[in-house]
Amino acid sequence: MIRLCYKKKTGTGPLLWKIMAYINTVGVVGAGQMGSGIAQLAAAHGFDTWLVDTNPEALTRAEELITNNIHRLVSKGHLSQKDGDGALTQLKYSSNVQELSSADIIIEAIVESEGVKKSLVLELDKIAKCSTILASNTSSISITRLASATSRPIKVIGMHFMNPPPIMKLVEIVRGANTSDDRLHNQGLGGEVSELFGKTVICSKDFAGFVVNRILMPMLNEAFYALYTGVASKEDIDTGMKLGTNHPMGPLELADFIGLDICLSILNVLHSGLGDNKYAPCPLLVQYVDAGRHGRKRGVGVYDYRKSSQKGKTSSKL
Ligand SMILES: NC(=O)c1ccc[n+]([C@@H]2O[C@H](COP(=O)([O-])OP(=O)(O)OC[C@H]3O[C@@H](n4cnc5c(N)ncnc54)[C@H](O)[C@@H]3O)[C@@H](O)[C@H]2O)c1
Repeated sequence: MIRLCYKKKTGTGPLLWKIMAYINTVGVVGAGQMGSGIAQLAAAHGFDTWLVDTNPEALTRAEELITNNIHRLVSKGHLSQKDGDGALTQLKYSSNVQELSSADIIIEAIVESEGVKKSLVLELDKIAKCSTILASNTSSISITRLASATSRPIKVIGMHFMNPPPIMKLVEIVRGANTSDDRLHNQGLGGEVSELFGKTVICSKDFAGFVVNRILMPMLNEAFYALYTGVASKEDIDTGMKLGTNHPMGPLELADFIGLDICLSILNVLHSGLGDNKYAPCPLLVQYVDAGRHGRKRGVGVYDYRKSSQKGKTSSKL
């Protein structure tokens, strides 16, 4: 029923039925900022969905967040009561990755570390059906190398959602060197699932940072350099870029929103992957991450979010 509702809303009829033939169950691994949003999208579009995380607290937080979001969508009339209830019933939470044995597509959204992601895809490769597509929401890590860790490189793709996934309109689909170009499978199907979620899809070749982060991260890094070298205060850097270039958020605010640990990982991947020192992370960014200042999710990053809920930041002494 939920699928029919979205069919009417988005006019994705033939696409919908084609996808339904291939995908009934969506698995999402990692219940952080990104994984919880992706799981919400999948459940709200009528898929049986599993959200898996090794950290039970992350699962509890994700369940609270998704339940509130679905209730808000219902109260605003974006989702019927019946479909909202359906979405909440169809979404299941677990700390046991074995639950993903029935999934037709598994999207991993765990920590941005190649080693950790490789171990996960190796495990998923053993658990998942042969036909299952393994997708990574990585911001920058090579899909080709992740795919090589599995016995099914033709079925491994990048599905890079933007933050927050329920709101941001873009998904970057990344095809590894060995990803099959079969339109009905792999990157074609990943793109079609994204379109069904109401996203615009762009395709990128598998080079570090793909399209969006290759261009965005050097800008955020430069904002850290401007702060580090005392060009201006954090507030003036953000206000300058917001009003001067019509960006909805300043670069330092955006880095806090993304997560400074994530930004640092992406810059390290760009630096080593593209071999150009222009991507070397600013020492101030490195120091903030070393200090545990990971951004909004930790309550402190460039800004301190612990002292004021108003606009999420204060003129902190940090
Ligand atoms: N934050 C962003 O703006 C953004 C945007 C696009 C893509 N991404 C990518 O999405 C991924 C997740 O980012 P995030 O911001 O949601 O991170 P996050 O830190 O909010 O969440 C990561 C979650 O993964 C869980 N986890 C770690 N290892 C695990 C494992 N082996 N098995 C199961 N769960 C595990 C952690 O417990 C945590 O809940 C990263 O690859 C990141 O680069 C992030």
